[in-house]
Amino acid sequence: LVKTSHAVVVTHPGIRRLYGDTVEASLARHGFGVDWAEVPDGEESKSLSQAGRVFDRLVECHCDRRTVLVALGGGVIGDLTGFVAATFMRGIPFIQVPTTLLSQVDSSVGGKTAVNHPRGKNLIGAFYQPRLVVIDTATLKTLPQDEFLAGMAEVIKYGVIADVDFFAYIERHADAILKQEPEALEHVIETSCAIKAGVVEKDERENHYRMVLNFGHTLGHAVEALTDYARYKHGEAVAMGMVFAAQLSVLAGRCPQPVADRIRVLVKKVGLPDQWPVRDAQSYIEAMYLDKKSADKKITFILARRIGEVEIVESIDESMLIRALKN
Ligand SMILES: NC(=O)c1ccc[n+]([C@@H]2O[C@H](COP(=O)([O-])OP(=O)(O)OC[C@H]3O[C@@H](n4cnc5c(N)ncnc54)[C@H](O)[C@@H]3O)[C@@H](O)[C@H]2O)c1
Ligand SMILES: [Zn+2]
Repeated sequence: LVKTSHAVVVTHPGIRRLYGDTVEASLARHGFGVDWAEVPDGEESKSLSQAGRVFDRLVECHCDRRTVLVALGGGVIGDLTGFVAATFMRGIPFIQVPTTLLSQVDSSVGGKTAVNHPRGKNLIGAFYQPRLVVIDTATLKTLPQDEFLAGMAEVIKYGVIADVDFFAYIERHADAILKQEPEALEHVIETSCAIKAGVVEKDERENHYRMVLNFGHTLGHAVEALTDYARYKHGEAVAMGMVFAAQLSVLAGRCPQPVADRIRVLVKKVGLPDQWPVRDAQSYIEAMYLDKKSADKKITFILARRIGEVEIVESIDESMLIRALKN
């Protein structure tokens, strides 16, 4: 780490109440003077205007290029803080201290930072890696259960895209994981981070291969868009999307039915939804075309060949989509 003695912790007021003293004491022990930048809770905080308020706070606290930013919170805090760190004085160091399961297994790893634009999520951002990611799994005890489950969707995803043994571990230890038994929880978080880091190392800027991380996300994003990002958590939509992608994989002749069944069973077992809302197929297909991940009139799907191996497919017949959507 760079030699520095000033940290600014970016967080929500509620998280500061829970963990602020611990974080401040720990930073002080390491010789840091600590300032705080609070942003309101919620996805709306991933905005240019909130980034502007954090910049104001950094100027007010006399930050310079040696100041280190600490993102204490979930993916909203991580993405916003990373974006501010990437751009303040052309880049200052930052540390991720993720406190949601989703941020511990997904958003804190990989270096994507962003804020939203009114016309689209994550439209303004940068690839910018944290110097360090510090995960304390005990923080998940205060996380609401539905937030925990949303993170589990990404965990299951890692099993499907990269590691059948990990998938089987989640099947066997689902109860222990959901009860947050330390050994199971640590194994799950560690393995998830390793799988994501492995993918990102091969293709940091998402030229192609990194797209495998989007397994379940093509339909998932469409579900989120069609329900105005209000009805489902991202992870719930991804759970539906994984079940859909698995079924599509069967229809496209990529894998046998039992593979898709196994994914659906695990999704249900952990308590995630396996059924997308009923809408006509055309509105789903249009929403999938609009998703920014579909380059020029093509919808990219990540299809399963087996548990632990997926493939990026760019041409799927609309008729096949319609059949899979009926599922
Ligand atoms: N950068 C990436 O690669 C990447 C990947 C996936 C998702 N994301 C982004 O992450 C964001 C979603 O992140 P999220 O799911 O963590 O949501 P979030 O950051 O909004 O956190 C969810 C809720 O949990 C609360 N919370 C956080 N930690 C807590 C704790 N320990 N105890 C009690 N409450 C706690 C938060 O205050 C918030 O209300 C989205 O904006 C998404 O775009 C980014
Ligand atoms: Zn996701």
